[in-house]
Amino acid sequence: MAEKESHIKTTLEDTNIYPPPEEFKKNANINDPEIYKYAEENYEEFWAERAEKLDWYEKWDKVLEWNPPYAKWFVNGKINASYNCVDRHVENGKGDKTALIWEGEPTDESKKLTFSELQDEVSKFANGLKELGVGKGDIVTFYLPMVPELAIGLLACARIGAPHSVVFGGFSPKALRDRLQDSKSKVLVTADGYYRRGKKLKMWENATDALEGADSVEKVVVVDRLERDDISLEEDRDVYYHDLVEDKSTECEPEKMDSEDMLFLMYTSGTTGKPKGVVHTTGGYLTGTSTTHKWVFDIKDDDMYWCTADIGWITGHSYIVYGPLANGATTIMYEGSPDYPDKDRFWQIVEKYGVTVLYTAPTAIRLFMKWGKKYPERCDLSTLRLLGSVGEPINPSAWEWYRDVIGSGKCPIVDTWWQTETGMILITPLPGLTDLKPGSATRPFPGLKADIYDAGGKSLPANQGGYLVINRPWPAMLRTLYEDPERYEQTYWSEYGPDVYFAGDGARVDQDGYFWVVGRIDDVLNVAGHRLSTMEMESALVDHEAVAEAAVVGKPDDLKGHVPVAYVILEGDRKGSDELAQELRAHVGKIIGPIGKPAAIRFSEDLPKTRSGKIMRRILKKLEAGEDYGDTSTLRNPDIVEQLKSKLE
Ligand code: WTA
Repeated sequence: MAEKESHIKTTLEDTNIYPPPEEFKKNANINDPEIYKYAEENYEEFWAERAEKLDWYEKWDKVLEWNPPYAKWFVNGKINASYNCVDRHVENGKGDKTALIWEGEPTDESKKLTFSELQDEVSKFANGLKELGVGKGDIVTFYLPMVPELAIGLLACARIGAPHSVVFGGFSPKALRDRLQDSKSKVLVTADGYYRRGKKLKMWENATDALEGADSVEKVVVVDRLERDDISLEEDRDVYYHDLVEDKSTECEPEKMDSEDMLFLMYTSGTTGKPKGVVHTTGGYLTGTSTTHKWVFDIKDDDMYWCTADIGWITGHSYIVYGPLANGATTIMYEGSPDYPDKDRFWQIVEKYGVTVLYTAPTAIRLFMKWGKKYPERCDLSTLRLLGSVGEPINPSAWEWYRDVIGSGKCPIVDTWWQTETGMILITPLPGLTDLKPGSATRPFPGLKADIYDAGGKSLPANQGGYLVINRPWPAMLRTLYEDPERYEQTYWSEYGPDVYFAGDGARVDQDGYFWVVGRIDDVLNVAGHRLSTMEMESALVDHEAVAEAAVVGKPDDLKGHVPVAYVILEGDRKGSDELAQELRAHVGKIIGPIGKPAAIRFSEDLPKTRSGKIMRRILKKLEAGEDYGDTSTLRNPDIVEQLKSKLE
């Protein structure tokens, strides 16, 4: 632990403070500060009241059973997530309300589904999945672009009690194969391809490549996004989505699921090469995501809500699909890139649909800042009333720009801290209550307890940097890692004991109790809001025959937060060259996916190592950040650091 400490910056930033605008405050869903005290003192009751907003087949016997580090929420309650996201709104007279708006990348393609239409589509696909032999408990893997069938597919799985595992469409065949094998999925849902920056990109080739060696897969459903462009299906195994659902009934009785039945698996990068299968269950997850969605985004019945994330990540699961739809809100999904056909596409979408609440990532905001004001200024953004940010720390200048240029100075900004593992937003402003400080995710959600510990587990005083921990279980928390409880215990609950959740982030709390999250303190890189494991990249590099040893570290980047940089020692007397560097970058891209490609490859004869031979990545990281790397006298080869430094200059 001691080694990690030096990663954490503790700089104090002078910032402006923005209280909620009076009008906003008056109409906000939550505007009574007593809510914090109430939730803190009546934690289980507080969540039980929130859970009661959902429709349950059978009520729970007990709100929380906490045997650290294992939690059960709403014990013995029976519920269905698909029913709660779709059918109940139809039954409550909202069948004609728009549930899902899909905007294709080609500007002439879009689709709107009302709650009634969504109910039909979800039921048809659910019946199709049943026909393919999918039953309760069978894991279905999705490898899809941002098409409506992805949202429909999640809800179809939830309807029949089949947990889904969504693999981000930008991942490589190998990444998909690993995840198919780990989850032993019987069914894969994929597509022929999709549009990106006006071009047709193929997905089917990657999918078929991944299927080689993924022996558990018996059936493949192919969404024909590109008019079935020259692809060939295997007759016994593959079926087009539209052929599968065509003749299916629009009736499909939702399964009565236990509150603790697995709703989905989501693989995420950890500190070792093997991705972690984060397990989320049903009742608590839906309670946590719907509550936070309604409170943090102040959702009203007439809101046009757009979260720009990809459903391949947790943000899309919780805040495009489950949270908004459980609340009966209209949710927008966009297929493509922010600069197609021009750099104003996001703002065109805001204008087209009259978006009121926008949730995006700092990396996107920084990109928009770089492109300049003229793009947002072309469009009518006056419908916006609330803005959100997620995925990485937002620098105060990007925050101010977002507020002034996108929100014309009138929209509160909710900077929300959470993780794949937490399932729901945990540290966040409530926009009708919280005075905002640009760059701070502000305070834990009502009832939650978070803290900053030192390496020994002592709670630190204000403004001292340390490790972010959560001291109470919460309804949408991960329950375990798929078939790996030991890794679950070890990764999250061993640092400070089984009842303190170790988030893996460095942070501080200021004199007003505001949290300032700095970023990961482990071997996870946050590149443009995407979580990548440096270990995974290193094993991809050493997989190449020319590489003897590799160390990957994050280099600070103005746009992406961090970019991966690879230090490489070559085999034998091989020499580094630009061609080889390109080849290695491509090799990592092939194994992990394009987002994993190192921004630079630095060839070196040697790397800084401890006497026991461990590469000191911390020193490389400091070199990349241009920071003082401290004492190197305990290294086996102290001279190498100066040499590397002089090469960088
Ligand atoms: C980082 C994304 C600062 C953090 C929902 C966390 C943030 C990791 C914020 C989780 C924020 C997320 N401020 N850092 N508002 N939100 N992070 O699992 O390092 O993809 O541990 O979940 O993103 O990334 P994940």
